[in-house]
Amino acid sequence: MSNRRKIITPEIAARVEELLAKMTLEEKIGQLNQVGPTPVGGVDLTLAEWKRMLDAGKITRAEYDKAVAGIPMDAQEDDVRAGRIGSFLVLKGAEKCNRMQRIAVEESRLGIPLLLGLDVVHGLRTIFPIPLAEACSWNEEVFENSAAIAAKEAVATGLNWTFAPMVDIARDARWGRIAEGAGEDPLLTSRFAAAKVRGFQGPDLSAPDRIAACAKHFAAYGAAIGGRDYNSADISLQTLHEVYLPPFEAASDAGAATFMGAFNDINGVPCTTNPYLYKDILRGAWGFDGMVVSDASAVAEVVAHGTAADRGDAAAQSLAAGMDMDMGCRCYIENLADRLQRGEISLQQIDDAVRHVLGVKFALGLFEHPYVDPTLADRLYLCAEHRAAARDAARRSMVLLKNDGLLPLAPDAKLLVVGGLAAERGEMLGTWAAMGRGEDTACLLDGLDARGVQYEYLPCYTVNHENHTIGEFDPAGLAEAIAKADFVIAALGETRNMSGEASSLCEIGLAGGQDALVAALAAAGKPFAAVLFNGRPLAIPHVDAAANAVLEAWHLGTEAGHAICDVLFGDHNPGGRLTVTFPHHTGECPRYYNHVSTGRPAGEIRHSCKYMDAPITPLYPFGHGLSYTEFAYENLTVREENGMVTAQVTVRNTGARAAEETVQLYVHDRVARRARPVRELKAFAKVWLEPGEEKRVELTFARSALGYYDTAMHFIVEPGDFDIWAGHDSTADLHAVLTVK
Ligand code: GLC
Repeated sequence: MSNRRKIITPEIAARVEELLAKMTLEEKIGQLNQVGPTPVGGVDLTLAEWKRMLDAGKITRAEYDKAVAGIPMDAQEDDVRAGRIGSFLVLKGAEKCNRMQRIAVEESRLGIPLLLGLDVVHGLRTIFPIPLAEACSWNEEVFENSAAIAAKEAVATGLNWTFAPMVDIARDARWGRIAEGAGEDPLLTSRFAAAKVRGFQGPDLSAPDRIAACAKHFAAYGAAIGGRDYNSADISLQTLHEVYLPPFEAASDAGAATFMGAFNDINGVPCTTNPYLYKDILRGAWGFDGMVVSDASAVAEVVAHGTAADRGDAAAQSLAAGMDMDMGCRCYIENLADRLQRGEISLQQIDDAVRHVLGVKFALGLFEHPYVDPTLADRLYLCAEHRAAARDAARRSMVLLKNDGLLPLAPDAKLLVVGGLAAERGEMLGTWAAMGRGEDTACLLDGLDARGVQYEYLPCYTVNHENHTIGEFDPAGLAEAIAKADFVIAALGETRNMSGEASSLCEIGLAGGQDALVAALAAAGKPFAAVLFNGRPLAIPHVDAAANAVLEAWHLGTEAGHAICDVLFGDHNPGGRLTVTFPHHTGECPRYYNHVSTGRPAGEIRHSCKYMDAPITPLYPFGHGLSYTEFAYENLTVREENGMVTAQVTVRNTGARAAEETVQLYVHDRVARRARPVRELKAFAKVWLEPGEEKRVELTFARSALGYYDTAMHFIVEPGDFDIWAGHDSTADLHAVLTVK
């Protein structure tokens, strides 16, 4: 029985049928065709060719930007008038979107509005922390509020659809798209997914300030072998259902209007043409009544997968599998009529896909309000309320990984700041930053300047703005500057382009001259705090060893510099907790906490499941995060009744500063028919504690959360003993045993 919050009411269904009955075959197929603006005449190269030259390093970024800026774009108006286009991606701006929408609504035969989509993943103009950062707040209100603000600014830009949230579980830090999701845990990512859908879509999807969400990438994209983007996922059905699908089910239950198929294959079947995903699971088991779009050119890429003979075959297979809309490669518009005529697909399949597309358009209220007020953007973009929300989210996303007492900083000490990332505004935006702009963004130095902090700054390495790489170490002036300072802040990490799509790395340490900088700081012996700017876990044991404090600041968006200083100087007590495991070395990847025991669990003896050249515990574990105070846990009790498991634990603030603690509850099934993870997060709760204050915190979860799939794929919840731990992170040792009858 599905728990989905349906978006198609009987009234909408009736309106869909009435419109469908009037449509020609070409108009039907046109609704399944999503395009982006394309370059037209007047240039000797297409946009794609310019991009290939940039990626190949044949032209610089500056040359590329100059060339592309001058390319007139064909918005294919005639196709819109003829009803051959149902949706656009990457059209931006109220004027452009209104103009294209007006052609569709007022100049086409049936006046069907367009879906106008863009990757509004963590903000549109006001940019919030990248999802991997925001997830570390473990705060569903923050997740929802940032999505609601992003929706408002997206609507002001003329959009009605975002290709977000990305809810792919990621266990391998070599995969650049780990930056775009909520990390390695199914429960936390499920809560993130549902909150994002609520934020983007609101209680009423047809409201004029809401947009359609898109849960992506369906499915198991993060299981890419080797962390290499677009690679195969070769996983068991049990792992698919226990690890990778739960966040998508949560998004569907929350009423996500759309889903996006993933580029990868699962066990040899491309997701784009996989009926098990879209018919058996999404619509059959979960009761999904929205629309499915492919990823960019993914329909055409079925040929490259080796499971389609040509584009027409790929189009037919995709439609038959339940892929409603073709993003960006014109396979559907160019082939479906022919494949229908050949009998490879049915008119019923085409009609069903069109129903799904029209259903979302009606549910969005586009037939009632297709246009946007062009004056809205100037009032909404970067307004004080949105900036304040971005700063609050950024504060809560930071994770204090290490601190020997250096932080919070004394405001009047002599400070030296080193590392080119400290001065980089654009790099703070992170991957998929929609229409975010560097000039609107606060870097670390801006945060210090805004506070009137006196400091000296030495880049020591620079960021190459043409290819977004990190330059070599430049020690000029460093020794003298360190000598004059009381302590140092070192900005270390990645540029925004070093994570995100097509950004897999086989080394996840520090690039360029950063290791040399760390070594120089270690040798100088002056206390230093490392501030990390990154979109993935980094293998930085040398930084942890040398620094007095390590603050994970990710790519925090528009308000980055101000929020970082709020934490560095103690205005905000850091409360973030990691949602991904940090390994010591790249070679440990994939590294995640909720693994099974094996017959030889990693231990001191050599003959156990471990690497000889790496510690058996991670650099920083899942759930880890320090505060400017400490917490004590005691008196854990747990019981099961009426299908619910209830744990209670006393948490006390034993330090001198008030703080918010994220109480985490982990479970281990001691004996099962298939090996179960050594720990799994099953509940978490936030609690505010004044110094010395203690509270009895209650955490509950459904008994069914103890279940798993047996070897025959039956979901079972077995009686038996379960280890329960409550505490500060996934290494919590306050233990109790739950006996389930
Ligand atoms: C990209 C990404 C997807 C994005 C789409 C449209 O290739 O895989 O996440 O939504 O294209 O930009």
